[in-house]
Amino acid sequence: MSEQRKAKLAFIGCGEFASRAIFPNIHLVPQIDLVAVCDLDKERADRNARNFGARSVYTDMEKMLDAEELDGVFVIGPGPQHYKLAPHVLRRGIPVYVEKPSANTSAHAKELAEIAEANGTWGQCGFMKRFAYVYRMAKDIMAREEFGETSMVTIHFGQGSYGAIWGIDSAKRSMLVGQLCHLFDLTRFLGGDVATVSAIYKQVTDTNFAFLVNLQFKNGAVGQLDLNGLEMGSGTRDVREWVKVAGFGAHLICDGMQTLHYQSPKDWIDTVPSTGRYVHAYDPAWTGISRSPINFGYLGEVENFALRCLGERDSGPDLWDSYEALRLGEAVYDSTETGAPVEL
Ligand SMILES: NC(=O)c1ccc[n+]([C@@H]2O[C@H](COP(=O)([O-])OP(=O)(O)OC[C@H]3O[C@@H](n4cnc5c(N)ncnc54)[C@H](O)[C@@H]3O)[C@@H](O)[C@H]2O)c1
Repeated sequence: MSEQRKAKLAFIGCGEFASRAIFPNIHLVPQIDLVAVCDLDKERADRNARNFGARSVYTDMEKMLDAEELDGVFVIGPGPQHYKLAPHVLRRGIPVYVEKPSANTSAHAKELAEIAEANGTWGQCGFMKRFAYVYRMAKDIMAREEFGETSMVTIHFGQGSYGAIWGIDSAKRSMLVGQLCHLFDLTRFLGGDVATVSAIYKQVTDTNFAFLVNLQFKNGAVGQLDLNGLEMGSGTRDVREWVKVAGFGAHLICDGMQTLHYQSPKDWIDTVPSTGRYVHAYDPAWTGISRSPINFGYLGEVENFALRCLGERDSGPDLWDSYEALRLGEAVYDSTETGAPVEL
């Protein structure tokens, strides 16, 4: 039996989110060989090497990149840290995985995507929703002939207050960059590229506000986003997310990144044809989804990065998708400031 090829991977950054949501997937992907970890904080690097099985520990990323032969590197920290550190990896022709977003601005995100291309390599961005079970199912349903052409995408995302982060000049802009980039990527994943953005804004306090956004997609579909930091008392503890995609005589609704309901054009029983609605439901039992990193997409994105490093996959959310998500957020911001639609 031939031995399975393994991607030799390393981490730069062993911080909070990386340790909680990304590292715990490493041992679940048989194609990964975790070669080394690096953090300026030696205790964190030692801890993650011990907990997740890396063979070598570094506090200097250049020393690690000189010493180790790597197929890919996770660079995980705040947005500006991706922008600063990822080029050190990309310039050696090595693929990177960065968390979302890849930088604070679309201009910086574009620079990173261009550095990758100039060095014959690529980068994945941590838009894990693309690997979440319900959104993968949504895409499969949308591809069915019976669903018809996607004509409308509606997304709701609500949480509590959101403060300024990463040196960004306001909480309003910070939420668009640090949090809502996920929803802008999901918008593009489901609806395609956006042509026009028209947004209004309601601010209640410096850190509690709402964006209402109308979208025209390049393919002619329309979309609407209700994105707010108003409806919950807690910052992110009680986040509420739901998505509706309408086809023709058919639609699907995903709730909480957990359940999916699909109303197909056909009823599935004809006992009482005078009544409706005949909905297909995906409502997973806790036994099947007992590890949220899996159904929410964190395992899928780690696996995708490893397989792409091995040349066994050729797609996934990349540095250009991060650029596009940031660009969409900037268009929303500009439209709320000027009161005019923004063409992308
Ligand atoms: N997808 C999601 O659901 C989700 C949720 C929360 C956060 N995030 C993202 O995760 C990221 C934050 O990650 P985190 O919480 O692990 O960050 P963190 O700030 O906790 O950790 C960053 C680590 O990088 C280390 N570091 C800094 N400079 C370094 C260098 N030159 N060399 C080596 N190490 C260096 C720091 O010492 C620190 O330990 C953000 O981009 C955020 O948007 C994603």
